Amino acid sequence: MLPYTSALKVVNMYIDTIEEELFTYKRQNPIEHVKSRLKRPSSIARKLEKKGLEPTLENAVKYIDDIAGVRIVCQFQEDIYRVADVIKKFENIRIVQIKDYIANPKENGYRSYHMHVEIPVRMLHGEEMVKVEFQLRTVAMDFWASLEHKIRYKNESEIPDHIGSELKLCATLVEKMDSEMQHLNNEIEQLNLITQDSTN
Ligand code: GTP
Ligand code: MG
Repeated sequence: MLPYTSALKVVNMYIDTIEEELFTYKRQNPIEHVKSRLKRPSSIARKLEKKGLEPTLENAVKYIDDIAGVRIVCQFQEDIYRVADVIKKFENIRIVQIKDYIANPKENGYRSYHMHVEIPVRMLHGEEMVKVEFQLRTVAMDFWASLEHKIRYKNESEIPDHIGSELKLCATLVEKMDSEMQHLNNEIEQLNLITQDSTN
């Protein structure tokens, strides 16, 4: 797990830099909080078995993209794309795949912006490219995803239809709230700009 632990440290350092720069130069504070986690070996083995693969180290490295995972939670939807754009510009982050579940939500209503990346990590034997999965979401999307996860996790069997439908309804409400809050925030920022202008 060592390369993955190091990768998370490196990525967290990058995120700190992004936060400090955006605040210092643009007075922007787009990140609400960041959570990183390493997948437990038992979960890695379970995921490989689900994919019909032997639970070996080689298979884990090759086929599991989210051994190291970083969740970046933002206040507003536009912040997600702003932060993603900064990440994309990092020279030592190689973007492998992007899944925009905000533009294309999952059937159950799940929304988030996923980025599979690789970053170089220096180990004793040399440099190694290590996979990291980023999940970028708003506070509201995160709230929805944690409830959905809890429900799914507690029910090994299928989620009852009516709960599935209610979750989907909640996802619609979350989407509406995200866009209303974004709109409101844009208006407030516009107002601030006007007041600043008139006091200058
Ligand atoms: P996994 O086998 O779960 O990795 O799916 P995948 O390889 O098709 O990737 P996907 O982008 O769908 O999901 C990656 C991760 O996003 C998952 O491990 C979850 O953390 C999160 N995720 C994806 N779909 C859902 C969902 O419907 N509900 C919740 N709560 N989380 C989800
Ligand atoms: Mg995956």
